[in-house]
Amino acid sequence: MTARIRPATGADAAAIAAVYRPYVTDSVISFETEPPDAAEMARRMAARPAKPWLVAERDQAVVGYAYASAHRERAAYRWAADVSVYLAAAERSRGTGRALYAQLFELLKDLGYVAAYAGIALPNPASVGLHESMGFGLVGVYRGVGHKFGRWHDVGWWQLALADPRPDDPAEPRPWKEG
Ligand SMILES: CC(C)(COP(=O)(O)OP(=O)(O)OC[C@H]1O[C@@H](n2cnc3c(N)ncnc32)[C@H](O)[C@@H]1OP(=O)(O)O)[C@@H](O)C(=O)NCCC(=O)NCCS
Repeated sequence: MTARIRPATGADAAAIAAVYRPYVTDSVISFETEPPDAAEMARRMAARPAKPWLVAERDQAVVGYAYASAHRERAAYRWAADVSVYLAAAERSRGTGRALYAQLFELLKDLGYVAAYAGIALPNPASVGLHESMGFGLVGVYRGVGHKFGRWHDVGWWQLALADPRPDDPAEPRPWKEG
């Protein structure tokens, strides 16, 4: 059985924070050190201009999510989105990461984004495998860019073209409207 993918709403913030929490507290997959609570997650989901947030549901429970955020704040970067995906441990290796990302990239293309970027703390074979299986290529590696749990960690950056070639005169990306 595949998970059901749907747009996230503010009501999902607590469940999303719960999926994310162990990656903050127990791993270097996230470089955060304090897990965001539901209110902080809701604040991130409400960032403007709005970008897509999707959840995966199984048996009416949120078991994963994927979202896009600004790659950088300065204006000329506004067609570039960072993307990320997190699943509850039991949901891994069931096709849910691929399903979330496939819908996320369709939405980003429709909204007028031209490229997606992903920063992956290394090593993370599952994440590298997912991104490369979806067409991402390695850009380069920031060596020792983060320090967590007493060690320095590398971050690899991967990119995926959403428009190829990029348009010469791109339309403004449109804000995402849930659903
Ligand atoms: C990374 C993650 C989202 C992948 O999602 P997933 O649902 O487990 O992956 P899928 O089952 O959709 O697999 C899609 C592809 O990813 C690759 N992949 C998935 N797990 C893999 C693993 N353990 N090793 C290598 N490649 C893997 C494969 O190419 C796979 O395609 P295939 O099934 O046809 O071989 C998931 O493992 C996860 O939540 N990991 C912890 C959080 C995390 O690392 N998030 C990314 C932060 S950068």
